[in-house]
Amino acid sequence: MNNMKKGFIFDLDGVIVDTAKYHFLAWKKLANSLGIDFTKEENEQLKGVSRVRSLQKILTWGNKSLSSEEFTDLMAKKNDDYLGYIDKMDASEVLPDVHRVLNYLKQKHQPIALGSASKNAKPILQKVNLLSDFDAIVDGNDVSRAKPDPEVFVTAANLLKIEPKECIVFEDSVAGVEAANVAGMVSIGIGSETVLGHADHVFQDFTQISEEFLNQLINN
Ligand code: BG6
Ligand code: MG
Repeated sequence: MNNMKKGFIFDLDGVIVDTAKYHFLAWKKLANSLGIDFTKEENEQLKGVSRVRSLQKILTWGNKSLSSEEFTDLMAKKNDDYLGYIDKMDASEVLPDVHRVLNYLKQKHQPIALGSASKNAKPILQKVNLLSDFDAIVDGNDVSRAKPDPEVFVTAANLLKIEPKECIVFEDSVAGVEAANVAGMVSIGIGSETVLGHADHVFQDFTQISEEFLNQLINN
């Protein structure tokens, strides 16, 4: 049983780092500049949602429409703001026990991938010094269909050369858990049971994930 290989796929935002707070600041600035109110509750609904879709949702909430040039321009502005926050990130922003779990899986020779909707995934991983920890990285630049479409995770599984049903996905978003389920992967929700009840397992954060549990995932 010891040489069993599973594919461990990690979402980035909200799983490895808490970037939702930076997305919030950047979206809020943009929304307010359009005279639209933007709350933390609304920000919750943008978790796992692509940049384009996020702006569409904000415009719908604020009952605004934009020309396609304005839309493109605002997306670029939002991303510039967001990158300003990312630029200040360092390894201290990696969420608790993420290093422990990654290191344990590595020690067990398990293939590890990133499966993120973000087009900024690589610069973020670089900032927090995790870029070389992944055997494969699939991000928003590599896929055309957003979560809950399973494309991002299926592509990651292909790169790892592991069957989807032998993959395990760590996700904090409703759409991401759904994507993992549709792909036939084991879904592990990181966050609250109330929000992520459709995941196969839910943990508040990585501190709750024991080595015994990781061994079960590897050996089952
Ligand atoms: C997801 C985030 O991981 O990536 C979303 O949860 C974000 O909030 C999406 O909108 C796209 O990210 P980016 O970095 O390409 O704007
Ligand atoms: Mg996420």
